[in-house]
Amino acid sequence: MPIRPAGPLGTALTPVSDPGTLIHGGSVVTTRGVLRADVHMLGERIAAVGTDLSVPGAASVDATDLLILPGLIDVHVHVREPGASEKEDWQTATRAALAGGVTTILDMPNNDPPTVSAARVRQKLTLAAQGAACDYGVYLGATADNVGLAAELAGEIVGLKIYLGSTTGSLLTDDWSLLYRHLCATPASLPIAVHAEDEQCLRAFAGSSPVDHNRNRPPVCAELATAHVLAAARAAQRGVHIAHVSTPAEVMAIAAARRQVLGLTCEVCPHHLFLTAEDALRLGGWGKVNPPLRPGALVEGLWQALPLVDLVATDHAPHTSAQKHCGYAVAAAGFPGLESLLPLLLLAVRDGRLTLSRLVELTAAAPARLFHLAGKGSVAPGYDADIVLLDPTGESVVRPERWQTKARGSPFAGWSLPGRIVRLWRRGELCLDAGELQVTAGSGRPVRREGPLS
Ligand code: NCD
Ligand code: ZN
Ligand code: ZN
Repeated sequence: MPIRPAGPLGTALTPVSDPGTLIHGGSVVTTRGVLRADVHMLGERIAAVGTDLSVPGAASVDATDLLILPGLIDVHVHVREPGASEKEDWQTATRAALAGGVTTILDMPNNDPPTVSAARVRQKLTLAAQGAACDYGVYLGATADNVGLAAELAGEIVGLKIYLGSTTGSLLTDDWSLLYRHLCATPASLPIAVHAEDEQCLRAFAGSSPVDHNRNRPPVCAELATAHVLAAARAAQRGVHIAHVSTPAEVMAIAAARRQVLGLTCEVCPHHLFLTAEDALRLGGWGKVNPPLRPGALVEGLWQALPLVDLVATDHAPHTSAQKHCGYAVAAAGFPGLESLLPLLLLAVRDGRLTLSRLVELTAAAPARLFHLAGKGSVAPGYDADIVLLDPTGESVVRPERWQTKARGSPFAGWSLPGRIVRLWRRGELCLDAGELQVTAGSGRPVRREGPLS
């Protein structure tokens, strides 16, 4: 809160209340519909949402013809620092997030070395506090030696991440009994996210094709691992969040198991909806990702199954260009996603495959609810003033060379996609204005997890 300077008589400094900012004339996108409403931001929070608000002295922002969305929340981001800052660091990842309309990210633990101890969690949180420009949380990685640690760190982490199959990094829990023990030892209030590809199955198909990643890691690997996770969740009677589901069969299996276990959720990534295994053959290194892009028929099935999916996350996984262009077999898997997320989903809205309300549910409301993020995910009074002012008209071409991420490519390079972010506020601070990012490293904060939780 600003402080009034000492008056002519040398009176003591008196705090004055800043009347805040009034966004007027726009349409607020909620999970229940799009409503004409003004939004009053005061300090870091939303003070009021309503029609014809009047706040004397407030700065005024004209949002005529614009949409007002809650800042997006991405629960699946690989920041890479510590260990691989040449790929990405807390500054660049969070700048990429804000440029993409994402005001909160949750960072994965497959760093080098992996985030698997209290000391490494705290080291990462220190790096994040210094570098982050958006709000953030970090996962603990599961190992054979840290069963029960997530419960001890519940105040510092946003969840536990379990890798059932090998992917970037060294984390691997390819043992059902270990998976089950982690599920039993982690309180139900702490989300567990799982990379569900079965390690034995991956080994069976490894090297099947020099050019087709989908043949080397076919759908059965993901479906088998998801079946194992669901069995473990049933046995432990606790929820699990399945990361980056890539096949309709997985979504169906998760949806069916929800009748027996509470808290079974899943995410889908834009690339598994917008790209196919056939595209991957053409894209070379930039089309390589775990789980792989799937054949067109499965991609269409995933769209059909989307009503049963809980949220959309990017799996933002930056690598250096050298690591993407070193030959398909050894190329790193993954690519950046933070700066293409919103335009891709707006394309789905334009094509009639998604409503704006569902977009907000998948990218803000559901991530906040399922990860218990206090004050996040909605444009409503009392919530953090994380706001995207969006012009849904117009198109722009995806140019990763102009992105904030350090990664210099994307499978969506050259695509023409709708929408433009006019302004973005993170906790009331204007971070993006007319395409210009204005943020300070270290201005991001760790998320607060809501409690008490069951
Ligand atoms: C991710 C990475 O590079 O960290 N890569 C990927 O292909 N998705 C790891 C992961 O999420 O599996
Ligand atoms: Zn993964
Ligand atoms: Zn990932």
